[in-house]
Formats: sequence, structure tokens, C-alpha cells
Amino acid sequence: MTRLPTPIRRDNPFGADVTELRPGFASPTMNRLVVISNRVPLPSNGPRAGGLAVALDGLMEKRGGLWFGWSGTVSPTAAQDGVTVSRTGGVDYATTDLTAEEHDRYYNGFSNAVLWPLLHSMPDLIQYDRTDAQIYRDVNARLAREVQGLIGPDDLVWVHDYHLLPLPAALRASGVSNPIGFFLHIPFCAPDVLESVPDMGELLTGLLASDLIGFQTDTDMSNFAASAVQFAGATRLPGNTLQVQGRRVLLGVFPVEIDAHEFAAQAEANARKLPVVRLKQSLPGQTLVLGLDRLDPTKGLVQRISGLRRLLETQPQWKRRMTLLQVAAISRKEVGSYRNLKAALDRESGSLNADFGEPDWLPLRMISHGVDRATAAGFMRTARVGLVTPLRDGMNLVAKEFVAAQNPNDPGVLILSRFAGAAQQLDAALLVNPHDTDAMAEAMATAMTMKLGERRERWQSLWGAIEYRTPVAWGRLFLASLLRGAVRGRLELVSDDQQMMANAG
Ligand code: G6P
Repeated sequence: MTRLPTPIRRDNPFGADVTELRPGFASPTMNRLVVISNRVPLPSNGPRAGGLAVALDGLMEKRGGLWFGWSGTVSPTAAQDGVTVSRTGGVDYATTDLTAEEHDRYYNGFSNAVLWPLLHSMPDLIQYDRTDAQIYRDVNARLAREVQGLIGPDDLVWVHDYHLLPLPAALRASGVSNPIGFFLHIPFCAPDVLESVPDMGELLTGLLASDLIGFQTDTDMSNFAASAVQFAGATRLPGNTLQVQGRRVLLGVFPVEIDAHEFAAQAEANARKLPVVRLKQSLPGQTLVLGLDRLDPTKGLVQRISGLRRLLETQPQWKRRMTLLQVAAISRKEVGSYRNLKAALDRESGSLNADFGEPDWLPLRMISHGVDRATAAGFMRTARVGLVTPLRDGMNLVAKEFVAAQNPNDPGVLILSRFAGAAQQLDAALLVNPHDTDAMAEAMATAMTMKLGERRERWQSLWGAIEYRTPVAWGRLFLASLLRGAVRGRLELVSDDQQMMANAG
């Protein structure tokens, strides 16, 4: 029989002392953290758009550790070149290149043309190809082989996002027995949508080699649990636990956070800087409505332009009195649905400005290059209205950033899609259904005319929802739960084993 850890009191397995797992696994703050994600924001590559980089950057900067993933570079010899390690601050960045074929099939193909639309419940955008699916699995196996040598015996391993669903099983196959946590930054669709892609059961089985799997919302977690039961042979146990192939896997909800105080200070400081002053000067007597997104089919950008068109059709008094500044930063431009979206946005924004614009006024300024986070913070503080209206979004940190950026004495108004994970916490925003064009137009008018008293009241409530949360606390909670999940899974194996022996005896 394998030697197993000392059994812990049966009456309180969740309160178990984690040091009993193994002397090294003492606390989530003491063990080195190994983060694995497809995108590694190497300091030398400059800032990256996207929630994952924002949340993990904040955590890694403060906590330190090893961060492993793709370098962002494509190279013909990627598969032989191995891993490059560089240290900045307390973080060791270990990165590997992708070959052109891997980039095309693992990143553009299966990750972003299959899993991304699938998990966002937009199956009509899926472009499935069996070879892409195979190369996706192969890249995960390669990443597991490359990182396993960098993982020390007492490290906590934390894998992130949809690019790496099979990685937990691939790590186990490479001999990694450390606690493995997985966090999904994007939504998880319902089981009947999941069925649109072949072999999802196999991918879920790979993911279930984790000790803890974290989600942004309760809906994502329950969709996953139902799918794991239906397609991966898991059974549900009490306490958000699944049993699969004799192992226990803990599930949990961990909404991603920003450092609200830090972002507020950044917004205040940047509101006085040149790019923001110039923006303000370019909008005399006008209300600024602001959207800041990656150019992505999930973000509801075409619907947003339709909402603005409806506003100008039904309430023409807004002409010359408002401007929507929409930053739609180019992203994943080799993927067909992103290219189609760019063409649709160019068409829609051009025709809106042509139909409603004046020689000295345009309703929409559409910009397809990103702005740096500091300038974005200043823009947010200056805007009267923040438009965050995705068709589906795991969390959407821009919504939280917009709240943090406001001047408490004269705050702007957040219009937020009900389909963003952030709506669960930020329910004092003006919540909208982005498919309802009239409701979008009405929400813009309501936000632009809202009296100071209501703006303050709503903002106080929104600020209260984010004020005491940080990416560091988010990470700490996840890692503490990971240790508990690992202890509990192994503990219950002990007791199953003892039970079997008792039955045999
Ligand atoms: C989302 C995903 C991240 C991803 C980011 C940027 O936030 O959850 O995993 O890194 O978008 O996308 P990109 O494809 O540029 O990494």
C-alpha cells in the first residue's frame, strides 16, 4: 500500500491543519508559487491588454514566484529551443516560443477559434478542425515537459485559462505530484452548448487532474460541474466537490479583483496629464461616454454602436452634446471572426458618423490601437459614462477600474451588461441587456442626465463592492483553498482506503 499522510480528524476535514499534508506545504504565503499561463507579460514586451495579465501582474509583483508560458515569439526551432528564464523584481519569467504551426493551430485555432467562442456561449463563431485539436493537446504536453523540471517539491502550481485545459493531467503524467490549482478567467457554458465541440469530455478529464478548479461566478461553476458529470464521468459530492477516477476535486468561485485604491490614485494623477487634458480640450461642452475593450466578438461592440445610433435617432437633442470614445484594441487578428468584426466595426462606425456627424462634430471616435493603462485610468476619471456592455464576459475588470477611477465627489455612471461576471458584484450600475438596442439608448440618456445625488449613491455602493479587495487577497484565498482541496482530496482517499480494508477484514 502507498504511504499516505496521517489521517486528520474526520469531524472537521475542512478545518484540517494543512501542515499535515506534507511538512513543506505550510501555508499559501510560504510556498513558492508557480503560475502557468499561455500569455506571460514579460516586462520587456510592454503592457498587455486583458484581464489575466492585469490580475496576475498585480499578484506576482507583490508575491513573487515563477511565471511560465509562451514568450509571445514565434520561432521555427521553438520545440527544440527549450525555456528561457529571466528575473525581474521577485519574479522569474520562464518562457518558451511557439512554432508558426503551433501558433496557428494551438493559439489562433483551437484556443481562440474554438474554446473562446464555445465557453462564451457563441457556438456560431466556432471554427473546429481536428488537427488544431491535436496540436492543442501536443502543445500542452510539451509545456508540461518543459515546466516540470522547474517545479520544486514544495511549490504550489497554479494553471490559468482555457489554453491549458489538459495541462493538469499532462503535469501529472510528467511526474508532478504537487497541489495543482486551475483558474478559468472566462465563462463556462452550459453542457448542451459544450457538446458542439467533439472530445470536450477528454479535455475536462485532463482538467480534473487538478486539486482545485476556480471560476469567476456561481453560474460558471455549476455549468462546469454539470458538464463534468455528463461528459467526464464525475460524480457530485457535498461541499462543491467532484469525484472522478477515485480522486476528489474541489470547485470554488473566486471573482478576479483589481487593487481599487492603487487604480484610483493612478486615475487621479493621470487625469492631469497631457493626453487626458488634450482629450478634454477636444470636447468643449460635450459629455464623454467611454468604452475601453479589446476588439473581440464577445464585447458587444457592434451592438454598442447600434445603441448610439438609436439614441441619436430617438433623442436628436443629444447631437453635438455627447461623444462616444471607443477604444477597441486590435487583438488576435489572424482569427477569422476577429477580422470580420474589425470590418463590421469600420463599416458601422463610418456609417454612423456619416449619417449623424456634422462638419465640426462626430458622435463616435473609434480607435483600434490600445492606450496604456495609466492614460486609460485618466480617461475613465474624465468620462461621465462608462460603457461596459459585453454579450458575455468572465468578469470584465474594466468595469471595476471605471468605478475605482471616479472622483467620489462627482462620479461618472457605469452602464454594465448583465452578462458580464462583474454584474454579480456591481449591481448598483445601470444594468443592461446589450441585445436590447432601445434599452442601450435609454441607459445612455439616463446616465448622461443622472443627478449628482443618484450618481454619488450608486458610486458609493459600487465602490463598497471593490474597495477592500485586491489581486493579492484573491490569490491568497485561491491558494489557501488549493491547500485545503489537496488535503481534503488526499484525506478522503485515506479514509476510502481504510474503509476498503475494514470491509475486506
Ligand atoms: C482574456 C483571456 C486571457 C488573455 C487575454 C488577452 O483576458 O482570459 O487569457 O491573455 O484575454 O488575449 P491574448 O489572446 O492576447 O492573450
